[in-house]
Amino acid sequence: MGRVIAIANQKGGVGKTTTSINLASSVAAAEVNTLLVDCDPQSNASSGLGFVKDPDRISTYDVLMGMASAEEALQKLELDQLWVIPAHKNLIGANLELIDVERREFQLRDALAPVRDRFQFILLDCPPALDLLTLNALVAADSVLIPMQAEYFALEGISELLDTVQRIRQSFNSRLEIEGVVLTMFDERTNLAQQVAAELRNYFAEKLFTATIPRNIRLAEDPSHGKPALVYDVRSRGAESYIRLAKEVLENEAKRRTQALDALVVETEDRADELGDVSENELADQQLPRAVKDTQESVAAEIASEVTEQAPAAAEPAADALQQVAGNDAAVSASDVSEQPEPAAQIPNQQVPDAVVQANQPARPAIAEHGD
Ligand SMILES: Nc1ncnc2c1ncn2[C@@H]1O[C@H](COP(=O)(O)OP(=O)(O)OP(=O)(O)O)[C@@H](O)[C@H]1O
Ligand SMILES: [Mg+2]
Repeated sequence: MGRVIAIANQKGGVGKTTTSINLASSVAAAEVNTLLVDCDPQSNASSGLGFVKDPDRISTYDVLMGMASAEEALQKLELDQLWVIPAHKNLIGANLELIDVERREFQLRDALAPVRDRFQFILLDCPPALDLLTLNALVAADSVLIPMQAEYFALEGISELLDTVQRIRQSFNSRLEIEGVVLTMFDERTNLAQQVAAELRNYFAEKLFTATIPRNIRLAEDPSHGKPALVYDVRSRGAESYIRLAKEVLENEAKRRTQALDALVVETEDRADELGDVSENELADQQLPRAVKDTQESVAAEIASEVTEQAPAAAEPAADALQQVAGNDAAVSASDVSEQPEPAAQIPNQQVPDAVVQANQPARPAIAEHGD
């Protein structure tokens, strides 16, 4: 199943759309099936990829409102393995129209479910607001990728987004991860950029992408050509930086898959151990009758000795009968027999166990008293 990444930051103009377009095309260029869903009524990702405004084209609005399937909305792009679901400005209406819809936060997730197997990556370009559209994207996503500019109070700027991610984890989507933070329009020569990068590195650790996106004129010009940097000018610093970002995203995914496989191996081994335990238990079950027999025999011996101690007179025949079993003595003395019911006294040797049972009967009250 493909990985769904929401590209979000409620701050406007930080490079969400530029990142969506160029990351999607760089990943697709690595021969990975990729879908970009334009979730912003401004439709900048759609126009940036060459889609002129067309109110009749199936768009994200139709998919979100259940009027068309994701499959029907797919548009193929120039790059071999890149598809897009374009947006139209009518998407702004979905923010209001969804309010009364049941499971309103899950509309995008449910709509994308049938196409998730077709794509290894699905990127969602979000609007600059923490509205119902962004909420739908975060509920549909496995992770959120946050583009941000290196500026003072950078952390304060995204604290609201991080709070929202936390609340979504608690209420709608417990698996939502931070894919990473990428610094955009980055000028590494300035002290400010260096300081902010260091502060973010402290806070996000390995979640801050090593790749940074420089301020680059080609990236700003691309949308007017309706092409990603990779197609428009692959040698530009902008295109190169997004290829490096795509490489990190793909490497992280490869790591996750390796870890998932490792976990599967451990689980399989545990399962095999459990099955081993089960068959050992089955073996023990087979041995149970012998163990039960042993216990029964030792209990019988214990009862016999208790009987002898507690009620010597009544128990004598039982003790003798046990003696007979042990000694295989055929003779039962006349004095013993006199206190016993006739049949028991005449039981032949091979039936002595029955005689033991009968001989024990008069002694039972004594055992009960002893037990009390
Ligand atoms: N690395 C860059 N170098 C130069 N210009 C850039 C770069 N990244 C983005 N821009 C330009 O900055 C502007 C804002 O970028 P973009 O539209 O990607 O941001 P956004 O976060 O999607 O904005 P919005 O919040 O309005 O959706 C655009 O004009 C874009 O061309
Ligand atoms: Mg945008």
